[in-house]
Amino acid sequence: MSTLFDLNTKQSSKDSITQANPSPVILVTGGAKRIGAQIIKSAHANGYSVIVHYHQSQAQANELVDVLNSIRANSAAAIQASLDIINNPPALQSFAQQVINIFGRLDALVHNASRFYPSPIGQITHSTWNELFLTNAKAPLMLSQAFLPYLKDANGCIVSILDIHANAKPFNRYTVYNMAKSAHQMMVQSLAIELAPNIRVNGVAPGVNVFPEADSDQAISKPLQSKIVASVPLKKEGTPIDIAQTVIFLLTAKYITGQIIAVDGGRSLTLQGGDAG
Ligand SMILES: NC(=O)c1ccc[n+]([C@@H]2O[C@H](COP(=O)([O-])OP(=O)(O)OC[C@H]3O[C@@H](n4cnc5c(N)ncnc54)[C@H](OP(=O)(O)O)[C@@H]3O)[C@@H](O)[C@H]2O)c1
Repeated sequence: MSTLFDLNTKQSSKDSITQANPSPVILVTGGAKRIGAQIIKSAHANGYSVIVHYHQSQAQANELVDVLNSIRANSAAAIQASLDIINNPPALQSFAQQVINIFGRLDALVHNASRFYPSPIGQITHSTWNELFLTNAKAPLMLSQAFLPYLKDANGCIVSILDIHANAKPFNRYTVYNMAKSAHQMMVQSLAIELAPNIRVNGVAPGVNVFPEADSDQAISKPLQSKIVASVPLKKEGTPIDIAQTVIFLLTAKYITGQIIAVDGGRSLTLQGGDAG
């Protein structure tokens, strides 16, 4: 097996990057594309040094880091890891140390990485459970724990990317995903209490901000997409920027903890649960 994680060789020279770094530093899991990449870009535009965690999207991570470093030298790096590392305590500890070594600090941790696919009853396997719970619930908790000392030093914050379906409005045939995101939502509320007053913990709950890629196992059929968009009071799909703006707001909202902000065009107000509510 290859190493569990690798610092991306496309990052800027580590020696120059680890000089005393006055900028706040953010790590976004699954930050190479889609919503995660937009959070990275928006944080960077707001003065953060950014660490793009990725699993398989190496080319997109490299490209993003290169663009951001061309805007501001030594301000972006990428790190590769499967979230499986959280099941291996020495690997997790080592990953946390590698992340800290990049810029010497961590101010904000964004749990964005996720898997999303149906799990109809009768077809639920241990591997379904393990993958959906790993990415959507267990990794956010174990990563939060691993980065705790650094976030505490920085008086930092955690932002979890959740889902409006985590809030008692299940998406039909996605039981395991719904359960995992609900657990993640409870993590936000539990840690907000436990980590106060040093670390703030909040969540952002997208509605439909970017549909899964059509050729992926996460794809949603066109008719269902149309039905979902029609059910949104603002009558349109949201965008990654809508999510990223809310994350940036939460990074700076020093008197907010334990809150979950729905960014869903009003959909959670009318959502009944089920296919398209
Ligand atoms: N898209 C929406 O409209 C929507 C709606 C509701 C909630 N959300 C939530 O918003 C967040 C972002 O959504 P998205 O659609 O942009 O996410 P996404 O594209 O489905 O996934 C984000 C990233 O997660 C990473 N990932 C998946 N499994 C992993 C693993 N085992 N180890 C490490 N990384 C892994 C992947 O990284 P690599 O590509 O590098 O492998 C992927 O690019 C998610 O938490 C999602 O649940 C999104």
